[in-house]
Amino acid sequence: MEEKYYLINTYGCQMNIHESEKLAGMLENLGYKATEDSKIANVIIFNTCCIRESAEQKIYGNIGDLKGLKKQRPDLVIAVCGCMSQQKGVADNIKKKFPFVDIVFGTHNLTNFEQYLQQKLSTKKSVYEVWESEHEIVENTPVYRTSNFNAWVNIMYGCNNFCTYCIVPYVRGRERSRSMQNIIAEVTDLVQNQGYKTVTLLGQNVNSYGNDIDDENVNFANLLTELCKIKGDFRIKFLTSHPKDLTDKVIEVIAREPKIAKTIHLPVQSGSTKILTAMNRRYTVEHYKGVIDRIKKAIPDVNLTTDIIVGFPGETEEDFMQTYELIEYVRYTSLFAFMYSKRRGTIAEKMDNQVDIKTKHERISKILDLERAISKEITLAMQGKTVEVLVSEQKDGYYIGKTDCGKTVQLMPDEKIKMGEFYMVKIGQIKSNKLIGQVL
Ligand code: 5AD
Ligand code: SF4
Repeated sequence: MEEKYYLINTYGCQMNIHESEKLAGMLENLGYKATEDSKIANVIIFNTCCIRESAEQKIYGNIGDLKGLKKQRPDLVIAVCGCMSQQKGVADNIKKKFPFVDIVFGTHNLTNFEQYLQQKLSTKKSVYEVWESEHEIVENTPVYRTSNFNAWVNIMYGCNNFCTYCIVPYVRGRERSRSMQNIIAEVTDLVQNQGYKTVTLLGQNVNSYGNDIDDENVNFANLLTELCKIKGDFRIKFLTSHPKDLTDKVIEVIAREPKIAKTIHLPVQSGSTKILTAMNRRYTVEHYKGVIDRIKKAIPDVNLTTDIIVGFPGETEEDFMQTYELIEYVRYTSLFAFMYSKRRGTIAEKMDNQVDIKTKHERISKILDLERAISKEITLAMQGKTVEVLVSEQKDGYYIGKTDCGKTVQLMPDEKIKMGEFYMVKIGQIKSNKLIGQVL
């Protein structure tokens, strides 16, 4: 039988990366194999993101680039799915602008992809199907994992927060949590049967896990506690926490459980309470600092990371400087900084006092300079310290490990080093931001 190939172009966050693994799982079940080469692919999927305008423009450009290939090979199936296609009117827009696209579907019907593909192949007709709202969670979708020793696991879908800048609640629907039982079964299988060493729990707001389930024992702190009881040498990570919902109970569990990585991504977005209020974040800077102080007290070696938006409507130089000062206060190991991007249908789209692009550029580069300086200091301070690393690569004859917070450590040769194992490593030299360590 002739080989059939697929190519998935994934844009955006870890949620999308994992959903592409589900699309890949369905295609592998149908006998397709992965390829990086669009010239030999029989199916090309764009799993899209719409969090910022720049993401959308890039995707439209990349879809347009396939016009010639589709002309040469009319049998090639091109599909567009994910957050961008979930937005109202986008499917029609794609139909008009890119009539050569064969299948369009949204986030709510992702698990139906296999059916849409079969339909396209048997009828030769295009399939445009975007569901308006979320449906029940579909369990047992095949997953073809591509992320080395780390496995992504959804614990919930959707978001109820409606931050005024954000499109996510409109394209991902309301919060829906998977049952603890299903999550525990999946993680057990991943670490005990499939050899995964880290499991990253995914949700737009993992701290509200279980709020939609009528059982007070179903909450994030208890989920973490239960997952830590699973036997095996593995670490648990999670994304993303909302500062208004990260409870002391969760902090306590992270501090207590050796299986939980000591790294917390806690997006603050802004250091100005005025801007946070306009963003509908529902916490003040004082509250955020309080959470940070409690985390640092409970977990002294914690790595904190964050997301920052610069140039939100109405952000003055003074507001911006408060963000700058907050970063100096927290000293994040790393951060993501974004320029505010207007999203259709969100509340902030209509706000006055939009900030000009030049100011946004200036502010983002100041933040990135500060971030670089802090990150360098944190790295230099690691000299002589002992850290745990997971050996995940071999490069130029050396084993390479990663710390909890994703810092790369090159390991001095040692016979006992094995791929996929955790080791305590003493950091010796640091050469231009590169950590070199000796396994203890
Ligand atoms: N413009 C810029 N950044 C945004 N984010 C979400 N929406 C927007 C927007 N409209 C950022 C936030 C969020 C991260 C995933 O993306 O910082 O935490
Ligand atoms: Fe967007 Fe806010 Fe929900 Fe995060 S919590 S996905 S920023 S609406």
